[in-house]
Amino acid sequence: MGATVSSSDENEQSRLRRRSFLIGSGAAVATSMFGALPAQASPPNAFPDDYDGSDLWLRYEPVADPGLLARYRAALGAIVVENAGHTLVHRHTANLSMAPGSTEHLVQSTLEAARDELVRGLGGLLGRPVPVRDGFPDRTVVVGTPDSSPLVRRLVPARDLAPLGDDGYLIRSLSRGGHRSIVVAGNTDLAALYGTFAFLRRLQAQQSIAGLDISSVPKINHRYLNYWETERLYAGNNPAGTGGLNGENGAIFDFTATGASAALNLPVILDRYLVAARAMASLGINGITINNVNANSFYLTPAAIEQEAALADALRPYGVRLAVSINYAAPTDARFAPDTLTREELDPYSAKFRDWWTRRARQLQAAIPDFMGFTVKANSEGQPGPQDLGYDHGDGANGMAAAVAPLGMRIFWRTFVYNADVDTDRLKRAYLEFGPIDDEPQPDGTIGRFAENVFLQTKNGPLDYQAREPANPLFGRMEHTNQAIELQVTQEYTGQNTMLCYLGPLWEEVLKSDTHATDAHGKLLAKRLVGNVVDGTAQGHPDTAIVGVANLGNADNLTGHHFAQANLYAFGRLAWDWTLDARGIAEDWVRLTWSNRDAVVRTIVAMMMGSREALVSYQTPLGVAHQFRSSDHYGPNPAERLARDDWSPVYYNKADSAGLGYDRSPTGSGFTAQYFPVLAARYADIETVPENLLMWFHHVPWDRRMRNGRIFWDELVYRYQTGVHYVSWLRQAWDSLERHVDARRFAEVKAKLAAHEADAGSWRDTCVRYWQEFNGRAIPTNGPLAITIVVGGRPIGGFDAGAPSYTVPVAAGTSPKITKVVPADPAAKCEILGQARGVPGRAVVRITANSFFGPILKDYVFDLVAAAR
Ligand code: GCU
Repeated sequence: MGATVSSSDENEQSRLRRRSFLIGSGAAVATSMFGALPAQASPPNAFPDDYDGSDLWLRYEPVADPGLLARYRAALGAIVVENAGHTLVHRHTANLSMAPGSTEHLVQSTLEAARDELVRGLGGLLGRPVPVRDGFPDRTVVVGTPDSSPLVRRLVPARDLAPLGDDGYLIRSLSRGGHRSIVVAGNTDLAALYGTFAFLRRLQAQQSIAGLDISSVPKINHRYLNYWETERLYAGNNPAGTGGLNGENGAIFDFTATGASAALNLPVILDRYLVAARAMASLGINGITINNVNANSFYLTPAAIEQEAALADALRPYGVRLAVSINYAAPTDARFAPDTLTREELDPYSAKFRDWWTRRARQLQAAIPDFMGFTVKANSEGQPGPQDLGYDHGDGANGMAAAVAPLGMRIFWRTFVYNADVDTDRLKRAYLEFGPIDDEPQPDGTIGRFAENVFLQTKNGPLDYQAREPANPLFGRMEHTNQAIELQVTQEYTGQNTMLCYLGPLWEEVLKSDTHATDAHGKLLAKRLVGNVVDGTAQGHPDTAIVGVANLGNADNLTGHHFAQANLYAFGRLAWDWTLDARGIAEDWVRLTWSNRDAVVRTIVAMMMGSREALVSYQTPLGVAHQFRSSDHYGPNPAERLARDDWSPVYYNKADSAGLGYDRSPTGSGFTAQYFPVLAARYADIETVPENLLMWFHHVPWDRRMRNGRIFWDELVYRYQTGVHYVSWLRQAWDSLERHVDARRFAEVKAKLAAHEADAGSWRDTCVRYWQEFNGRAIPTNGPLAITIVVGGRPIGGFDAGAPSYTVPVAAGTSPKITKVVPADPAAKCEILGQARGVPGRAVVRITANSFFGPILKDYVFDLVAAAR
C-alpha cells in the first residue's frame, strides 16, 4: 500500500505544505486511527486553564453531564456522619497549627476527615453545597462505624461488616421506610474514611451510584511509602545546591529549611502535607518512612522527634503512621552524647546496643504513640551494619527487633545488599546472604532465624529498580520470614521528572509473575505469583507489607512531572489490591486527573500504557541492564567503567566482538539456579528464556536468530528505534489534546515530551554507536517504519530510521516531488506532510504504525539536493 500523489492533487498539496510548515513548531496532525484525538470544536476543559496540578487526583470539579449531575443531586441531598468528633486521635503538639494563609485545615478525628472530604467533594462535584445534617433525612449519604453511629448499626447487619477486618469498607444503596440513602461503613473510623474516598472516586469518574453494593478489603496489611527526602528527588522546585527554593531543600516535609522558609519548618503544617495525607488515605496508604535510607541520625534527635510528632499529629486522622530510617551505627553519633556507644559496642546481642535502641524507640513512642518502627539499610553501599563486627544480617535485624518488640514496633530490614566478596555476580549476593538465615533450623525446632517483627524489605528485581527485571528470586525462597516488596515510585531509572513513564505495567508484571515456587516436597504451590508471596496467600506469612519509594516533593504538582502523579496513584491502588490491572488504574487516574471525556481518556490511557515498554526499548532493550551514566542515572553511558565493577555499565553489558549480555546461565555465573526449578530451567536455556530478558541471562551472539526471524543485531537496533518512535507518537497524541486539556498543564507536559523525545534519541544513538564499536556492523534499514520513496520515477530506500534527516540527490531536470511512498509494513499509514518546491528543498513524510506495545510514528525529513553531475 503506497501513498500516491497525483498532479491533480494541487489543493491537497498546498494544504500538506501548510501542515508541513507546522512540523517544526511541534503542532500535530491528529491520526485517530492510532489513538490520537481528532481535532474538533470541543466543550470547555474540565479544569481551569491555570490549574497547576496541586490537588493530585483529589480534584472535585462540577460534573459536566447535565443528566448525571441531576441524578447525583437527586441522590445526595445531605451528609450524615454521626459523632464525628467523639473519637479524637492523639495529638502530641500543643497548638498544632497551619502556616499562615493555608487553605487546608487540621482535623482531629478520622470521621471529621471523612465528613469534610464529603463536604468538599460533593460540594465541588455537584456544584452546590451539600449540608451536613443530624438525624436521617431522605437522600442522605451516611458514613460511620457501628461504634460511632447508631444509624450505621441500624442500617448494616453486623454479619456484613465482620469479614471486612480493620481496613475494609462497604458502600451500599438502601431504601428503607421511605428513605433512600447510601451508607459507607467499616469496622473502624479509618475504614469508613477509605470507603468515603472510594465513593467520591466513583463520582469523580462519573460512574453510576444507583444500586451500589460494594465491599473491598485490602490484600496487604502494611501499605507504606518510603520517602527519600532529597536523595533521588525529582519533584523539588529547586533540589540543586543548598537551601533550594526560598530555603526549602525540595522535600515535601520541611525540617531544616532556611531563610524565608525557616519560619515554616515543622511543627508548622503546610497545605501540601495535608494534600499528601488525603491522597495517601484516598488509596489506603497507611504509613510513611520520612527520611532517606542512607540515614541521617538527625531524625532521631529530640528536636527532630518533636517535629516528627507534629507531622504525625497532622497525618494521624488520615491513618498515616510514621517510621524513620536509621543508621545502624547511630549510637556512636556525637549528637546523642553523653548517651553514646563505641563502635565495639554495636554488638547486636549486647544489652548496651539493644537498650540504646529501646531508649530511642521509647522517646519516639512517647511523642508518637503509633510510631511504626525503623527502616534499616545495613552493610550496603557503605552503610554500617552488623557485619562490621563479624555478625550477619540475621543477628543485626534480630538485635534491633528485640530492642523494639516490647514497644510493638517493627524493623524493616532491607535486602538490597551486594557485598563483592560474596560472588562475582552482583545479582547472586543478596540470596547468598539472606537465604541461609531463612533456612536455618532453630533450637525450638522451627526453621528460619529472623524474628517475627522483622520484615525483609526486598526490591522487586535482583538488581536495582531497572525498567525491566525478572522477579527477585528472594520472593518465594524466604518461606520462613516476613517479606515486604519494595517498588520505586520515584523514577530514578525510568525517566526521572522528564520522561512520561507509567509504571503500572511494570508493577503488574512483577506482582503477577509466577515464581513457580514449590512446597517442601517439590510440589508446585497453588498460589505462587509474587503477589501471593507478598500477600501471604502463597506461604502463609503472618504479616504482610508493600513499600513504595515515593516521589513527593515541594513542586506545585508535588511530583515534578504531571504524569508522575499516576505512579503514586497506581502504587497505592496496587498496594490495596495487587490483582488490579494497570490499564484500569490508568483509566481511573485519567478521569480523576485530566478529563472524563471518553476520547480524551482513551488517548491518555494509550499514551500511558505503552510508555514503560517504550522506555525499556530505547534504554535497555532485550534485557541489557543498567546502562546509565553514573552521575545522575538519567542518560546513557554504556562505555562507563567505574572503580566498582558492579556499578559499571560495562560490567552489565559485557560487549565484545562475539555479542552482548551477561551470561548468568549454568555456563556463566549460575544465577539462574536461585530460581525455583521451572524458572531456573527456562532462564538457563537461551532457546527458552523470554526474549525481553535475553541479555539478562545470556551473552547473545550478534547473529543469533530471533523468534521473528531477524538476527539479534537488527532486532536490537529496531528496538531502540521503536522506543523513540513511540515517544514521537506520544508528542503527536498529546498535541491532539490541546483543546481538551487545561492550558498550563498542557504546556508543561508538552515541554517535557519535547525533552523526552530528544533524550530518548540520545539513548538510541549513544548505545547503538557503542555496540557498533564491537561488531563493526552497519545500521539495518528494514525496521518497522522503513519506507521507500519514489522521486522522479526512481525508488529510493534504505533509510536509517534513527537519523534526523536524509539527503536525496535529484537529477537535473527532474521534479523533486515525492510521487509515492511505500512502507515496509503494509499496515502502516503514510502521509506526505510537505513537498520540496524546488532544489534544494525539503519534504516530510510521516509514517504511523503499531508496534507490539503501541503506536509508533516517524517524520522522515528529506533534503532534496541537486545530484552531482
Ligand atoms: C539506588 C539508588 C540509591 C539508593 C539505593 C538503595 O542504588 O541510586 O540512591 O540509596 O538504591 O536502594 O539503597
